[in-house]
Amino acid sequence: MRRKQSEYMHWAKTQSRARFNLATSGVGAFPLGELGPLPPLEINGDNSYGYTPLKQAIAARYAVDPDCVVTAAGTSGANYLAFSTLLDPGDEVLIEHPTYGLLLDALEAVGAVVKRFARTHENGYALEAEAVRRAITPKTKLIVVTNLHNPSSVLTGESALRELGEIARSVGARLLVDEVYLDAVYDNTPRTSLLLGPDFVVTSSLTKVYGVSGLRCGWILAEPDLARAMWRMNDLFAATPVHPGELLSVAVFENLDAVRDRFRRIVEADRKVLTRFLDRVPGLSAVRTEWGTTAFLRLASGGADSFLERLRAECDTSAVPGRFFGLPECFRIGMGVNSEMFAEGLRRIEESL
Ligand SMILES: Cc1ncc(COP(=O)(O)O)c(C=O)c1O
Repeated sequence: MRRKQSEYMHWAKTQSRARFNLATSGVGAFPLGELGPLPPLEINGDNSYGYTPLKQAIAARYAVDPDCVVTAAGTSGANYLAFSTLLDPGDEVLIEHPTYGLLLDALEAVGAVVKRFARTHENGYALEAEAVRRAITPKTKLIVVTNLHNPSSVLTGESALRELGEIARSVGARLLVDEVYLDAVYDNTPRTSLLLGPDFVVTSSLTKVYGVSGLRCGWILAEPDLARAMWRMNDLFAATPVHPGELLSVAVFENLDAVRDRFRRIVEADRKVLTRFLDRVPGLSAVRTEWGTTAFLRLASGGADSFLERLRAECDTSAVPGRFFGLPECFRIGMGVNSEMFAEGLRRIEESL
């Protein structure tokens, strides 16, 4: 039987907690009390194929047609729904290495044949068209990338994405871009890559950059025919969305810039602390980025597993082991939750090195 679970998610849910928790990937929790007057809530609503005001809010924010929007339970639900709609068992999928582990787990669960192309530390984790060109075959059905890149937070620009789209098109494949971190580019936020062509499929949510993970407000953006197929596939999964969640999500969209700014301040303060840490501390290197809520650090010697075990046991500090990204000499840390906790976590990492 195919593997139908995720080691990473199980680890994250059961073993990542610590007083100084740098094993996060998104910003902290946005409290309901800060949302302002709540909309009238109702349990049931008109949402057979999504709640129109929510689809309109997503469409307006990302400058796409509401017919391109399929709502889902977080980016996780969006990715799984997209994969199950686009792929049959045995279909070949090309995905970046390293990447977010759940993407691999979900692809495996739907029976895809997974092939990889590398994004390397030495090359600043850039998405290189040449690496994709070398790995693609006439059997490739889908290319999958993250933008910003998880784990490194490296931003891929529009011209590189266009080139990737052309490579996908040359074999009749589509390009799925997981953009859950893209809105963490706070200035000149790039437009969604759905706007680059009908072969693009985008997934995202209000979780990582907006701190409202509990609403599970996620979505797929795809050309309308494909979007309709996704809604039909969703009849087999969730059937209909959770309506109170849709109402609250619309309220968050009405305040989206304020919610984002609230966390921007924390992320930017944390990045300053991280920059000083990386300037100062020997034995570690990282590709530095201007944006994003995660950073991927590489130890000059030794594996991260034993280091992180000691860090958690002796210093009550956690980070995500690089083994979950196929790079055991690395570990990922997260920004945007609490600047005092972040600074003290980094201090403890320094002390433990
Ligand atoms: C690239 C990427 N996609 C999707 C997710 C899941 O996001 P959500 O909480 O919206 O389901 C994560 C979570 O870490 C992620 O890093």
